Amino acid sequence: MFFLGIAIHGFLLRRVASSATPSAERWAQLNQTVGGRLHTSLPLAASCFSTVNGIPSTPNATECALVQQGYTKPDFRSVHYSAHMLPQWETCQSTVQRCLLNSDDPSDPTAWEDNECWQGAISPYYVDVQSEDDVLAAISFVNETGVQFSIKASGHDYKGRSSFGSLSLWMRNLDSLSYSAEFVPEGGNVTYPAITIGAGVPFEDVYSFAEDNNITVVGGYHQTIAASGGWVQAGGHSILSPIYGLGVDRVLQYKIITLDGVSRTVNAFQNPDLFWALRGGAASTFGVVLESSMLVEPQMSLRVASISFNQTADNARGFLEILVNNSYKWGQEGWGGHMGPASLINVNPLLTLEEAQASVQSAVDYALAQNGTAVVEDLSSWQTFFAKYVESAEAGVGVQTILGSRLIPTDPFFTDDDGQKALVDLMVKMVDTYAVNPYIIQGTPFLYNYTEGTTSVTPAWRNSLWQIGFHENMAYNATLDTMYAQYEIVNNITSWMRELAPNSGAYFNEANPYEPDHEVTFWGDNYATLLELKNKYDPFRLLDCWMCVGWKGAADERYSCYLDISTDY
Ligand SMILES: Cc1cc2nc3c(=O)[nH]c(=O)nc-3n(C[C@H](O)[C@H](O)[C@H](O)COP(=O)(O)OP(=O)(O)OC[C@H]3O[C@@H](n4cnc5c(N)ncnc54)[C@H](O)[C@@H]3O)c2cc1C
Ligand SMILES: *[C@@H]1O[C@H](CO)[C@@H](O)[C@H](O)[C@H]1NC(C)=O
Ligand SMILES: *[C@@H]1O[C@H](CO)[C@@H](O)[C@H](O)[C@H]1NC(C)=O
Ligand SMILES: *[C@@H]1O[C@H](CO)[C@@H](O)[C@H](O)[C@H]1NC(C)=O
Ligand SMILES: *[C@@H]1O[C@H](CO)[C@@H](O)[C@H](O)[C@H]1NC(C)=O
Ligand SMILES: *[C@@H]1O[C@H](CO)[C@@H](O)[C@H](O)[C@H]1NC(C)=O
Ligand SMILES: *[C@@H]1O[C@H](CO)[C@@H](O)[C@H](O)[C@H]1NC(C)=O
Ligand SMILES: *[C@@H]1O[C@H](CO)[C@@H](O)[C@H](O)[C@H]1NC(C)=O
Ligand SMILES: *[C@@H]1O[C@H](CO)[C@@H](O)[C@H](O)[C@H]1NC(C)=O
Ligand SMILES: *[C@@H]1O[C@H](CO)[C@@H](O)[C@H](O)[C@H]1NC(C)=O
Ligand SMILES: *[C@@H]1O[C@H](CO)[C@@H](O)[C@H](O)[C@H]1NC(C)=O
Ligand SMILES: *[C@@H]1O[C@H](CO)[C@@H](O)[C@H](O)[C@H]1NC(C)=O
Repeated sequence: MFFLGIAIHGFLLRRVASSATPSAERWAQLNQTVGGRLHTSLPLAASCFSTVNGIPSTPNATECALVQQGYTKPDFRSVHYSAHMLPQWETCQSTVQRCLLNSDDPSDPTAWEDNECWQGAISPYYVDVQSEDDVLAAISFVNETGVQFSIKASGHDYKGRSSFGSLSLWMRNLDSLSYSAEFVPEGGNVTYPAITIGAGVPFEDVYSFAEDNNITVVGGYHQTIAASGGWVQAGGHSILSPIYGLGVDRVLQYKIITLDGVSRTVNAFQNPDLFWALRGGAASTFGVVLESSMLVEPQMSLRVASISFNQTADNARGFLEILVNNSYKWGQEGWGGHMGPASLINVNPLLTLEEAQASVQSAVDYALAQNGTAVVEDLSSWQTFFAKYVESAEAGVGVQTILGSRLIPTDPFFTDDDGQKALVDLMVKMVDTYAVNPYIIQGTPFLYNYTEGTTSVTPAWRNSLWQIGFHENMAYNATLDTMYAQYEIVNNITSWMRELAPNSGAYFNEANPYEPDHEVTFWGDNYATLLELKNKYDPFRLLDCWMCVGWKGAADERYSCYLDISTDY
């Protein structure tokens, strides 16, 4: 007999009234097919609360203490199905039903004393996927029952695309890693040095594996992003991308189960149409990826510049001018990095240490004049750099954070005095108007020799030098009005960016969740073909996500927890 926890049961009765409701026997049958790896799920912090999904519950102090300790740690969140890095995607924002702790102080008891815990956006059932057969069983189940499903790897998504639905496929435990110096894509006749990465593997594991194998993998600026998940399928930028390309440029092969229930090996030689779609058309659209294989580089040393000072109302503009005035030259020299009004952490594999020091001298001088700090040094590998600089500087998690961004074309913003001034003015306006800092990423494939037509990301990537983004944090207990006000700030800033660079685009993974005209912004001319391929590989529309190719639109029941922010999407 199939057992449902009391809280889950009460919740299900309420929630699925208008959706498909498989019988308990059918769920139990799925559970048997997936080897007992079907689980029910409550929100991460449920053990702290005395009311869960409207039903009295006995808190578990031991478990609650563990959640408090891990609340803002990516490694803790990454291994818990019901945790997402941006906790608003654990909640139902439109109904303000949530189960969150105070991210500023996770031990603050008012979080659970003053609030009830609600299931929010957490799927009540998930499969801990460990094989291709698990995925085939789940696809067949949703096809037959009409249950909505989602796919989660790390829970890094900024748009809620790994949340919602009544069944989720949790990919985290597909953790295989292998390296071949002579990888041959199936059906192909060319060899590459390549790493093959299971769908759940976080970048921190990829990087230490690469170090052990004396190779370099080009990847993201965070420990727990899943390399083969949402990162690569939608673009995947790295601060090594200026030379070595985006994730989509480097991927050689995917193993995927498409939503017509077929297991496929996809590369330039077989299923090339789908390969193109998976090189930018984004995740959770065409199927469930089991692994990807990516081109690797030899082990390389890096010149690193790390500069920071205390930001004031008076000193930000001068530093931003230095960044804008130098970035074209820095791009030509092979630098990539993350920068802001009072900091930068940039890397360069091409220059000597002396050349690197000379290259960034104006930024160093500026910071030192502000009594800041500056280091320009040589490190032996990406892993050494990552451990020393990134793990302490990467974007925080466990805090409700909204993102907005845009790709900034090289011409005229880095090539022309008026363009440069307009760009500096925009960034200063963000700081002055909303106290929001630009988060600049020099991570576009600026020097990379791209072969036209091989990827489906917006072509704006190919003529841009920067992505400018920004973060807007929401308090864990923000009211609906406050949330709307904060999204309005995000919309205002992104609209300034669109006005500055109307013909550019944005990175699907890191854009404003309410970006208007999203098909053009994220995919440009590639959208029509992507939509044809969506129809081909997901003929029954089993998979849907917010603003994904061929989605059902904001009015669909699946999106009832998103806010009613009227833009033209
Ligand atoms: C703190 C932080 C730092 C970041 N830094 C970078 C960065 O340096 N560079 C960069 O390019 N991006 C960065 N991102 C953005 C990141 O690339 C996206 O959030 C990406 O979607 C994460 O993919 P994931 O699979 O790890 O996350 P998830 O939230 O688990 O999934 C994201 C999307 O992929 C789908 N998905 C996941 N696995 C699969 C699968 N196996 N098959 C099919 N669909 C799947 C999900 O359904 C969802 O739609 C960052 C994000 C955060 C929160
Ligand atoms: C699935 O089966 C396993 C093993 O029999 C069991 O432990 C688990 O609770 C079941 N899952 C659900 C959702 O009932
Ligand atoms: C409380 O949580 C701890 C840690 O997960 C677990 O070992 C223990 O069995 C739980 N206690 C109860 C009463 O459920
Ligand atoms: C690989 O195969 C393609 C055709 O599929 C052919 O054009 C090409 O010459 C081959 N390359 C090598 C190195 O054999
Ligand atoms: C989904 O169901 C349809 C019939 O409704 C069937 O033709 C199709 O093969 C099924 N697809 C999968 C993946 O099971
Ligand atoms: C590691 O790779 C580098 C670059 O290819 C090479 O010079 C070096 O000899 C290798 N080291 C080992 C221990 O294999
Ligand atoms: C940056 O360039 C602009 C335009 O050439 C110039 O006016 C400005 O003084 C420069 N700023 C710095 C800090 O070099
Ligand atoms: C830097 O420190 C010196 C010595 O303490 C001080 O005189 C100067 O005002 C400081 N400059 C800035 C920009 O803070
Ligand atoms: C920057 O601010 C921090 C925190 O207020 C302070 O400890 C530090 O001394 C400041 N540094 C400089 C260079 O002013
Ligand atoms: C691009 O191609 C040119 C010409 O072959 C070559 O000189 C350059 O090094 C290549 N750039 C990169 C980043 O590989
Ligand atoms: C949110 O929580 C903080 C810290 O506990 C508290 O000071 C604040 O009043 C709360 N805000 C709302 C809207 O409940
Ligand atoms: C957003 O911009 C509009 C139009 O300029 C303005 O009326 C509104 O006050 C701004 N919203 C916020 C929160 O600043």
